[in-house]
Amino acid sequence: MDKKVTFAVLTLSDSGYKGEREDLSGKKIIEICQNRGFFLSSYEILPDEKNLLIEKLIELSNQKINLILTTGGTGFSERDNTPEATKEVIEKEIPGIPEAMRTLSLQKTNRAMLTRGLCGIRKKSIILNLPGSLKAVDECLNFVIDPLEHGIDILMGWDKNCART
Ligand code: MTE
Repeated sequence: MDKKVTFAVLTLSDSGYKGEREDLSGKKIIEICQNRGFFLSSYEILPDEKNLLIEKLIELSNQKINLILTTGGTGFSERDNTPEATKEVIEKEIPGIPEAMRTLSLQKTNRAMLTRGLCGIRKKSIILNLPGSLKAVDECLNFVIDPLEHGIDILMGWDKNCART
């Protein structure tokens, strides 16, 4: 199968959904992934509704999109339920990616410990929760995108030569 990495972006923001706030973090994700040569399959701004997010994550993974990136809803407010929705749909958790993002981010701000974002696999899709700010997306996604692509290659069987040393 020829390699073509597809991605979807879901921005979780009540104010973004109502059009009261420009979605800078979603746009930043698109820019970073397209610069990497990935193909945008879907982009949506959703309100912070757990059940709606669950439905969307299932729909996008059923469409076999390689990488589903969420931004926002990973903090402490009552409506922040992105990790809970993600936890309900993933079949395998990938703790190392959020651990790495938090470790890097803690060097920049101690508030990085406040994001509860998860990462995991459902079918042939990797779902990754990013925090909601433009700065956080820029820092976190650029740091993990290379190993993330390698993970996609392995999941899809595109990398037959993964060195296990
Ligand atoms: N991570 C990085 N790299 N840079 C940041 O500025 N902000 C933190 C954290 N992660 C931040 C970060 C803050 S202040 C919060 S409240 C949490 O992400 C949760 O953000 P969210 O609710 O928008 O997802």
